[in-house]
Amino acid sequence: MNQGTCLQDLPVDLKPERLPNHVAVIMDGNGRWAKDRGLPRIMGHRRGVEALKDLLRCCRDWGIEALTAYAFSSENWGRPLEEVNFLMTLFERVLRQELQEMMAEDVQIRFVGNLSSLPLSLQAEIKNSMETTRQNQGIKFTVATNYGGRQEIIQACQAIAIQVEKGLLKPEEINEEIFEQYLYTTGISHPDLLIRTSGEMRISNFLLWQIAYSEIYVTETFWPDFNRPEFHRALSAYQQRERRFGKI
Ligand code: IPE
Ligand code: IPE
Ligand code: MG
Repeated sequence: MNQGTCLQDLPVDLKPERLPNHVAVIMDGNGRWAKDRGLPRIMGHRRGVEALKDLLRCCRDWGIEALTAYAFSSENWGRPLEEVNFLMTLFERVLRQELQEMMAEDVQIRFVGNLSSLPLSLQAEIKNSMETTRQNQGIKFTVATNYGGRQEIIQACQAIAIQVEKGLLKPEEINEEIFEQYLYTTGISHPDLLIRTSGEMRISNFLLWQIAYSEIYVTETFWPDFNRPEFHRALSAYQQRERRFGKI
């Protein structure tokens, strides 16, 4: 990819000054995409990876600072073991294959979720990719893996309770700013735009705290078919919105 051509690629009807800084995506519909084609669900997940790689490049081309993608929820462990195992192996393989490319494209990757319950070999790949790309200054790419918004909030409460128990923090000192320091996403801005594919009108335990004022966009398109024209439509819709944050 050509650095510097970035904003030239931005569709002319989109205003660069009104782009979201941070886009989050619930990448849903891989299974249905595959089913529609008479393929096994795993083929949908494979194609889903390609759609994510394209979106990451597109965000970078169009000058969006941060992208967060929901890859695996705390509740997705309830799927057949075969599918879960396929996904874990897929994540590991993709991370290994894409690390060089992420370095070339100046991507800073970060994982959020309960990472300690993931397979050890995947944990090692995650650690390596985060450490290797830590200094990169380009797009901030966050992958939510074994992530649950409720679980994130509970682990933050537990960590804060320990600080209180040790006498390092007073209950009345706990405020939004301090609370955020204990979330997995500490240091990452809140999403401005949350996109969900495949038409479901729900949050499915994603970023419960962080999306308090995100604009939500739902498309019927299944995730593997989510492409630049689709993203363009989502951004156009976003630019029509008036974000009031409770004011008038
Ligand atoms: C999203 O697609 C990917 C993951 C949750 C890992 P799904 O696998 O949920 O696809 P559908 O919703 O069954 O079509
Ligand atoms: C949300 O999709 C999780 C991810 C995209 C990783 P699901 O397919 O798991 O959500 P539900 O079950 O339809 O709510
Ligand atoms: Mg789904």
